[in-house]
Amino acid sequence: MKKEHKIVHGFSKKSREEKLNIVTQNHIDAENALALFKSFHHSDSKMQALLEEFSENTISNFPLPFCICPNMLINDKAYMVPMVIEESSVVAAAANSAKFWFTRGGFKTEIIGTEKIGQVHFLWKDDKALLQKYFSELKERLIKDCFDITENMVKRGGGILDIELRDLSDKEPNLMQLHATFETIDSMGANFINSCLEQFAATFKQWHSTKKEFSNNGLEIVMCILSNYTPNCRVKCYVETTLDQMDDIVKGMSGEEFARRFRLGVRVAELDPHRATTHNKGIMNGVDAVVLATGNDFRAVEACSHTYAAHTGTYTSLSHVDIEGNFFRFTLEIPFALGVVGGLTTLHPLVKLSLELLDNPSATELMSIAAAIGLANNFSAVKNLVTVGIQQGHMKMHLLNILKQLKIPESRKAEVIEYFKDKVVSVSAVRNLAEKWNLIEATN
Ligand code: MEV
Repeated sequence: MKKEHKIVHGFSKKSREEKLNIVTQNHIDAENALALFKSFHHSDSKMQALLEEFSENTISNFPLPFCICPNMLINDKAYMVPMVIEESSVVAAAANSAKFWFTRGGFKTEIIGTEKIGQVHFLWKDDKALLQKYFSELKERLIKDCFDITENMVKRGGGILDIELRDLSDKEPNLMQLHATFETIDSMGANFINSCLEQFAATFKQWHSTKKEFSNNGLEIVMCILSNYTPNCRVKCYVETTLDQMDDIVKGMSGEEFARRFRLGVRVAELDPHRATTHNKGIMNGVDAVVLATGNDFRAVEACSHTYAAHTGTYTSLSHVDIEGNFFRFTLEIPFALGVVGGLTTLHPLVKLSLELLDNPSATELMSIAAAIGLANNFSAVKNLVTVGIQQGHMKMHLLNILKQLKIPESRKAEVIEYFKDKVVSVSAVRNLAEKWNLIEATN
């Protein structure tokens, strides 16, 4: 029989208790589902209320591990970097890399720019030449009318940088845009930019209606929105050393041989979008973890970095290797818009603490930290891929999870780990061993 779907009215207005009951009532084990959701409520009701306010229709919390990557030396400053991530090998990979580069000069960064972007998309049916002729007058009005919004930002050294008129009418009849650039200093700037853009649209309409050369319906605003693609809000991060400094990075392998294979590994990602996607995913493993821990918008960061990875027309690697003579350099260039004020930064206690652990960085310092962790993760991943393979490290983590899953007694875990040091790990292989070694009653 076809299941009847009924629309739920007024869900957002219900109390948390009512929402929980509605959601769990049809669950196969409603009582346990309800209890599980409730078990994740914070014991401090004020804290729970705060967490609920961050979103809509909240019924519980969803905890993720809060981890630390120690020994990150970035621009000669040592950091303990907070990382929020559920993938077990990511923090270990970043930490290995951090330790390796700590004694080889650490990570160096350079901020290429901090420019953010917003656009007003509109249809222009009047004379285009007239709009171009009057554009400097309009631009002045647009900036002037935003004074109330921009005043504080300007005091902090930011504001509207420029507004350009762009013509897309060869692709869609009458389509044009105001393409504006902004400096938002230590904030990501989404609210600031969107407020400016909506004011631009209001001013534009008003200005258009008072000019007698224009027709009544010559201007139609389509939409006003920031762009998450900010190629000129970008950081470059690199590590460098001499080849001999990488001798024995993998037991028995010379630094020269390692560098040769490492360069090839990165070259594949430069040439093949399939590999580039996974390669860049490895970078984003680290970047996203820092972005989450510091309360920033990881969806925006992801969208921006992948668009940038395709800015040449083909999706490619975000990182590159240079080997010149005896010298190895590994570089990542990545754009993202991060904030250290506004948003969750002071509201979420763990975000605030993350920023404190990082010594309350500026937005550009946070860009450097996130990029360095991304490069650290990328270095570890490619290093493993071109030498021992990726599964060795992953399987160590996998084995620990299997031991937990099979309830192997704590006192016997070390023996099992030792046994699997040079063997292929799988659930059935571990179960077989557990049976053979009489750990079976604990595994049932
Ligand atoms: C796994 O989360 C990330 C890697 O696949 C990255 C890479 O392949 O470079 C290991």
